[in-house]
Amino acid sequence: PTHRDQDRAREAQEDAPALGGTSLPALPGAFANTPDTDMATRANQQWAEAITHRIRGSRLGTDAADAARLHTVEQVDAVYRHALEAQKTWAARPATERAAVLRRVAQVFSRHRAELLEVAAAETGKTLEQGDPEVSEAIDFALYYAEQAERLAGLTEVVAIPRRLTLVTPPWNFPLAIPTGSVLAPLVTGSAVVMKPAPQARRCGAVIAQLLARAGVPEGVFTLVDVPEDEVGRALVSDPRVDQLILTGAYDTAALFASWRPQLRIKAETSGKNAIVVTPHADLDLAAKDVAASAFGHAGQKCSAASLVITVGSVSRSRRFDAQLADAILSLHVGTPEDPTAQVGPVIEAPGEKLRRGLTELAPGESWLSAPEQLDAEGRLWTPGVRLGVREGSEFHRTEYFGPVLGVIHADTLEDAVRIQNGTAYGLTAGLHSLDPDEVAWWTDHVEAGNLYINRGITGAIVERQAFGGWKRSAIGQTAKAGGPNYLLHLVDLVDAAPAS
Ligand code: ALA
Repeated sequence: PTHRDQDRAREAQEDAPALGGTSLPALPGAFANTPDTDMATRANQQWAEAITHRIRGSRLGTDAADAARLHTVEQVDAVYRHALEAQKTWAARPATERAAVLRRVAQVFSRHRAELLEVAAAETGKTLEQGDPEVSEAIDFALYYAEQAERLAGLTEVVAIPRRLTLVTPPWNFPLAIPTGSVLAPLVTGSAVVMKPAPQARRCGAVIAQLLARAGVPEGVFTLVDVPEDEVGRALVSDPRVDQLILTGAYDTAALFASWRPQLRIKAETSGKNAIVVTPHADLDLAAKDVAASAFGHAGQKCSAASLVITVGSVSRSRRFDAQLADAILSLHVGTPEDPTAQVGPVIEAPGEKLRRGLTELAPGESWLSAPEQLDAEGRLWTPGVRLGVREGSEFHRTEYFGPVLGVIHADTLEDAVRIQNGTAYGLTAGLHSLDPDEVAWWTDHVEAGNLYINRGITGAIVERQAFGGWKRSAIGQTAKAGGPNYLLHLVDLVDAAPAS
């Protein structure tokens, strides 16, 4: 390893929060993240074009998703009984064998990158530009959790006892990486996993399930179920045999599930209302570019997305930043995933009441820097909207819209900006653009969010390098970050290895 690798390993060890005195030994060198597809090469451009031609009319995952449909509470019972039976043999296998299965998952995903991109585009409208890093992240989760599981098994003071049954309910907006990571983490510790995909991403879930089976995840150890959100769904969540639930989705969904079964151990990564602060000490060109990408990548449908930019002091008064932001937004290419160059894709469905308000209604004192324009009959394709003059405490300041609309708020000072940034119920991602080290230090100490980004965009966490998790209403029961060194520790029960005296 290079000096830099050694420094990073040492830092990782120092940064790892202690969990009852236990943390996993740091990886010996830096973890090698999986590269995204290099779209500068002609061969890869042709590969991407071939995918885009298959999107319309694609039926990938359809039959498998239909076959996973559960219609009755008795079927839920049968799935759980079968999973618990399969878990016994799975947990009895050495950790190295389970880790080897995850490494095969990484290989299989790598070989099937094209199908994963196709199904995400066909079913959820995800552009290839946005889908490709998701496949890389899914592969990283497999490789990273494989390593971490081996380290967990190597701890000498404690023994990790797997929880027998984990339920996973992933979101539709990251239909590849989040399901894969949320399933593989408990699975590699020896848990059986049942996954219910989001209704808008059931085919993505089915393709993932097929690839896991191909990689050697035994039948019953992982089960895909597609259930409606009626009494069958409720039976799935409230069954007392479920040891833990890993959920990514709206805060209200997590709260509803918790109300169904208050004893259920929930690890939920939920909503966000994230802001980037831009101070007079920022590189404004860079800030405008990062704000545009963070706000409008995947049409703003990321829990991590920027939906506010807080301009400090002279940044708001000079109007220079507004002009740069307008230019950055104009240069974003809006289109469907069939267009390989599309950057801002469609929203998942025609906007509901809340998002429609966000895209069309201004509050007193607000004006459009760029008004959202509907480009298709269905209402799924919108040009990015930016509203100026958003007021602290207003509806736009506090509401997560989950779509292509950004608000600009003025703050007199950095202190005011941070008060505004912290002034929502959530605490997921937060950004600062400033080249002044004192400002950076002060902001880092005062901002309330799980994931801080300085002089860069605020989406696109990377396994091991930037583990991901929320604070405040952006999480429930989430004490370790996904893709970070302590994630597996929070999915098992640790018991003292010392023999009882
Ligand atoms: N992990 C996703 C991101 O960082 C949500 O954008």
